[in-house]
Amino acid sequence: MAHKADLLLDFGASLGEISPMIYGHFAEHIGGVYYDGLWVGEDSKVENVRGFRKALVDSFKKISPPVLRWPGGCFAETYDWRDGIGPKENRPERVNWWYTFDKRTETNQVGTHEFCDFCEMVGAEPYFAANMTSTTPLHIRNWAEYVNLPENLTTLTRERAQNGHPAPFDVKYWGIGNENWGGGGQMSPEMYMREYMRYSAVINSLDRGRIMKFIMCGANGHDIDWTRRIMQEMAKTKYPEAATWGMSVHYYCGTAGTPQEFTKDQWYELLFKADFMRRIVDDHRAAMDEFDPERKIALVVDEWGCWHKDGTGPSGGYNLFEQQSSMRDAVVAALTLNIFNNRSDVVKMANVAQLCNNLHSLYLAGGEHFVETPNYHVFDMFKTHQGAKHVRTRVKCDILTRDGYRPLEMVSASASEKDGMVTITLANLSAEEEAIITLSAAERSLPEKGVFTILAHEDLHAVNDFENPKRVTPTSKEISLSGAKEIRLPKGAVAALVLG
Ligand code: AHR
Repeated sequence: MAHKADLLLDFGASLGEISPMIYGHFAEHIGGVYYDGLWVGEDSKVENVRGFRKALVDSFKKISPPVLRWPGGCFAETYDWRDGIGPKENRPERVNWWYTFDKRTETNQVGTHEFCDFCEMVGAEPYFAANMTSTTPLHIRNWAEYVNLPENLTTLTRERAQNGHPAPFDVKYWGIGNENWGGGGQMSPEMYMREYMRYSAVINSLDRGRIMKFIMCGANGHDIDWTRRIMQEMAKTKYPEAATWGMSVHYYCGTAGTPQEFTKDQWYELLFKADFMRRIVDDHRAAMDEFDPERKIALVVDEWGCWHKDGTGPSGGYNLFEQQSSMRDAVVAALTLNIFNNRSDVVKMANVAQLCNNLHSLYLAGGEHFVETPNYHVFDMFKTHQGAKHVRTRVKCDILTRDGYRPLEMVSASASEKDGMVTITLANLSAEEEAIITLSAAERSLPEKGVFTILAHEDLHAVNDFENPKRVTPTSKEISLSGAKEIRLPKGAVAALVLG
């Protein structure tokens, strides 16, 4: 059985550059993300680069991560940056935000220097989330001084040198607060904006538009009222001098079944939830447009992914929120990244949550074990979109409908071109049928030759685990698209076609 789709690439219609930052990541101090995930320590038997798991560093580098958000999430709202600097043996052990959930303490072995070192190793821009809930504007300003001001300028920059890094780290992206409507202080939008103005004005006093870009705390999912009221407050500001670059939003698709146990109906339920990202982006941008028609403030989806039942990962519940990721999660990743590509005029950064041993992770690790999940392969297959020129796609295919959601197209697609190469990324959303997709192009012809990569598995529940780390891996073949220009995708598959 097969379902058919027509995919037109309209080379005459583009939304401009696909920001590389759409392919960003998030790694919070929570559960097993750092300790025994990314970080094993310099003295570990596990091969490492200055304490970071080498297998992960090597793998992560390959997908060109543009940006990495840190240290939270909620963790940021009780984080004191001074705990994470200086000799490691002197750093305090603390209960952190997540202590009451998993009884794990924070040893602060990964702090500002280690995190920036990791970013440098993998080529990502650091994106700091500043605590605005339980500290002061001055304390965060001092952090910015410590990381960004020139060598030997002040006592703090000399302290940075003593701690091993004389040159500034030049951290550009700063989130001011996290989820301040909830764990970050239960603020109203108006209260948050008052705090944001205080923090951003004080931090901005040492940079004034030189390199720092501030990202405001945005809404929880589809809470458009939050966005509108934030933008309204902003518009009233007499001195909007802060370097506000973006407005965030967080959206997770809540589980339907578990990562490895779901029915066909739950397969589609999760995909409807993932596809809801279109409304999240469109409706928040529309609310922002009321006050920012020139779109000076970017939309940043700085937490997204599937949030399944806790305890389905290899640690069996020890690592908080650790979950497995199956082919279904890979399809969610592909669908979401295609949505961002097709809204590249609006979405300027996005960060999938979270990198390792947690929600929608690219990696699962523990001791000697290390696994790339199906989500990782999607980011690998989509990486040529980064910084490429978007090409409009038009898909004619079967749709599925469900109350409360927009119609779900059974084929998800996006396209871009760069350096004479055309990248088309696809997902077959059907859990039952192969997709036969006929390609055509307007304004220009499609290059005929290229490489076709498919990520698929007969069992849509399939995962990669410590016993079988390569159960779900992509296969690539050379392709020549002469004649009917027809390509076939197995049920529930993700594909990338790179032509030229
Ligand atoms: O990603 C896990 C948590 O989800 C983050 O700490 C928080 O920002 C969100 O609620």
